[in-house]
Amino acid sequence: MNSMNKILSTVILLGFILLCGCNTQPSPIRSGELWPDNNGEHINAHGGGVMYHDGTYYWFGENKCDTTSSAMVGVMCYSSQNLTDWKNEGVALAVEDNDSSDITRGCILERPKVVYNAKTGKFVMWMHIDSYNYSKAATGVAVSDSPTGGFKYLHSLRPYGEESRDMTLFKDGDGKAYHVYSAKGNSTLYIHLLSDDYLEHTETYKAVFPGKFREAPAIFKRQDKYYMITSGCSGWDPNEAEYAIADSMLGEWTAMGNPCVGENADRTFGGQSTHVITVDPENDKYIAMFDKWNKLDLINSRYIWLPVQFHSADSITIEWKDEWSLNDL
Ligand code: GAL
Repeated sequence: MNSMNKILSTVILLGFILLCGCNTQPSPIRSGELWPDNNGEHINAHGGGVMYHDGTYYWFGENKCDTTSSAMVGVMCYSSQNLTDWKNEGVALAVEDNDSSDITRGCILERPKVVYNAKTGKFVMWMHIDSYNYSKAATGVAVSDSPTGGFKYLHSLRPYGEESRDMTLFKDGDGKAYHVYSAKGNSTLYIHLLSDDYLEHTETYKAVFPGKFREAPAIFKRQDKYYMITSGCSGWDPNEAEYAIADSMLGEWTAMGNPCVGENADRTFGGQSTHVITVDPENDKYIAMFDKWNKLDLINSRYIWLPVQFHSADSITIEWKDEWSLNDL
């Protein structure tokens, strides 16, 4: 190869490397905007949560398909390697065309969350199951061998007879999992230890914030501290978030105030908490997920994803960003 050819091939190689480099830049996250999936359609996974399993993120959430709260399709699943580009994996748990089923088409099926049980090798989904006027106040359980589908619905129940509405799941580092739900007419949050297979409640639970009417719980752990973000109870309308910290899931929870700062922080930037994604705990990388409900057109609800920022004395803040990327975490 003569020297001219060598220079030319080096330039081409450098250009190629630069191009590849550019392609690995994470896509921006734009809270409150439409978020297209791999088919160019707005992601339909509301009140959801993200589970990481074997190198892939799975986003589960409520399929909203009209202006009402009714579940007409079920729980959707999307997968991603990078948390920004999501592939529609279809319906993970489908509603049933059977009037006597708890998940009959048109029921209330909200806030589905999935955790993997390493002992049984099953993916376990818990969700809020209700009647159209929210008087049933129950929780439902489903299991699957695969994260993307074929969830089999087991049953709905009230934990030891107690009401259960807005909820989340939290799986701790020791493999224990907890069902956290608004109980007693939404006045009190219950943190309930699940059985080893994650399919039932045990007798161990803790009632927190009695009389404070908190809902939409989202839990994460950073170093040795547990954090819980909640909303107040105002239906689809936004209100002020609050967070609390504890040394253990069943320990004392201390309310720390509103984590949101800046304009519109007293209304959670128009959103309501649903989950916090632990991206890289060693490096304090966590993403707070909120739903920006459009109560007159629920399918057109949006997502608000913002970084959690950590400060001294275990305090956190969440500030609005029009656009950011995972590189900014
Ligand atoms: C909210 C709750 C949502 C949904 C809504 C219905 O308080 O967080 O998940 O249940 O009420 O009005």
